[in-house]
Amino acid sequence: MLSEMQVRPPDNDTVSPEQLRQVMGYVPTSVAVVSAMTRRGPVGLTVGTFVSASLDPPLIGFLPARTSTTWPLIVPVGSFCVSVLGADNEQLSRQFATSGGKKFEGVPWYTSPHGSPVIEGCLASFDCAFERCYPAGDHWFVLGRVLDLDVRESGHPLVFCHGGYERLASAPAIPSGG
Ligand SMILES: Cc1cc2nc3c(=O)[nH]c(=O)nc-3n(C[C@H](O)[C@H](O)[C@H](O)COP(=O)(O)O)c2cc1C
Repeated sequence: MLSEMQVRPPDNDTVSPEQLRQVMGYVPTSVAVVSAMTRRGPVGLTVGTFVSASLDPPLIGFLPARTSTTWPLIVPVGSFCVSVLGADNEQLSRQFATSGGKKFEGVPWYTSPHGSPVIEGCLASFDCAFERCYPAGDHWFVLGRVLDLDVRESGHPLVFCHGGYERLASAPAIPSGG
């Protein structure tokens, strides 16, 4: 059955990174901050690759790039939080997507039950223990075991599509720069 689903043999040379990036731009993603508490304080990075991986056991996943300078700081901590950003959190996404920047400067956060920093005002948060990490080309595929979770009573997710921030049609518009 599985082999029937593979319609073409894999061919590594036919799709360029630029093509893949351009076409993947049509696929909307959520926007989340993966963060952990290191000895030097909280660290984090913006990801658009957050997925639900398994319900039982409860596993989530995301893909940090091999070039990420923050991910290697999170690995030895062994636990992290995924804060899913809301439609009003665009500026936070930009701040945590700036490599080398002072990611947590001016950002209100609190400590999760399992010791990771959670972005205050995020839409949903997943308090995780590091489960596994698989090589995935120029990224890593990371699995986290969900130990605790939380969600805001109301709100809409921030969406990334076509290389820019979008909101669901039902979400109130945020003035640009907000
Ligand atoms: C909407 C959005 C989604 C992103 N998704 C990812 C992702 O899934 N994985 C990743 O490694 N970087 C992703 N990035 C880029 C990182 O946030 C960015 O490279 C960041 O500077 C990494 O910081 P670091 O070097 O401190 O790890 C995304 C950026 C944006 C704006």
